[in-house]
Amino acid sequence: MVTSSAPGKVYLFGEHAVVYGEPAVPCAIERRATVTATEREDAALRVRAGDLTLDGFTVEYNGDTSGTPDVDVDQPLLEAAMGYVNEAIEQARDAADRPEAGFDVTVDSAIPLGAGLGSSAAVVVAAIDAATRELGVALDAEEIAERAYRVELEVQNGEASRADTFCSTMGGAVRVEGEDCRRLEDVPNLPFVIGYDGGSGDTGALVSGVRSLRSEYDFAADTVAAIGDLVRRGERALAAEDLDELGRLMDFNHGLLAALGVSARSLDAMVWAAREASAKGAKLTGAGGGGCIVALDDSTGTETALDYTPGCERAFRADLDTDGVRVERA
Ligand code: PMV
Repeated sequence: MVTSSAPGKVYLFGEHAVVYGEPAVPCAIERRATVTATEREDAALRVRAGDLTLDGFTVEYNGDTSGTPDVDVDQPLLEAAMGYVNEAIEQARDAADRPEAGFDVTVDSAIPLGAGLGSSAAVVVAAIDAATRELGVALDAEEIAERAYRVELEVQNGEASRADTFCSTMGGAVRVEGEDCRRLEDVPNLPFVIGYDGGSGDTGALVSGVRSLRSEYDFAADTVAAIGDLVRRGERALAAEDLDELGRLMDFNHGLLAALGVSARSLDAMVWAAREASAKGAKLTGAGGGGCIVALDDSTGTETALDYTPGCERAFRADLDTDGVRVERA
């Protein structure tokens, strides 16, 4: 039996613009998905998942992957989660050259599903690591990231960026520009506070909305390019450990994303509540339309303010996590 975990992520800067080749900086957060893999005598795969959303219904999914789980949870979300686990196990079988290996898999995640925090990537990365180790193979981080990316491509019908899987595997702050992903070294601790409206946006629709705006209006194309400039400045502020400047740039990034039509009333309300409390800066994170905001605040002010903000279902602190995928128990 091997247990591995991997972190979720927020975008410090650069979502949406990254689709057009601008750089982005996702950061791993101290909220993890934990996967335990135990090899079975037969070739079956049994998956048990608990706490797949933040507030904790428990999913008991005991059966082969063709069965229907008897749970009170949004079915598409559950099916999606199970699709990721299936494909991750396929990758582990392939990596260990054990196509017939069977597993009992347990998934526990403290990362809300479908809210832009990279929950699926974290589950996939942890599952590949746990299942390959259970078969006696330890993959290096690059290979885990590559295989996890292939899983997302497969499950998401060819629509996936490397950002989530790379960030979850490596931990810390990473820089993504096209196919080029690398970890940023010597970054300060980032005291993230996350506000979650309980919902999620439609990533495909939001991305295509930005694409239309960008082709229709030069100033929308300029806005996308301005986000790229802002990210490059953000990288310098990170290297200089200048949290005040990072906060200002986060505020600016949120404004540019709002101009591109991807914010929402709930996200704006949480961003303003954070700013009016003690945040150094705040912005939506991920595709937008609903889901999460991320603020920078090392005091308790933002979390408390978000707790009282209508539309904010849950607020929590999740500092930058410098660890990526790791073994919890072997
Ligand atoms: O909401 P998330 O975490 O899946 O992030 C989407 C990020 C986008 O830049 C909007 C799309 C993408 O594929 O990069």
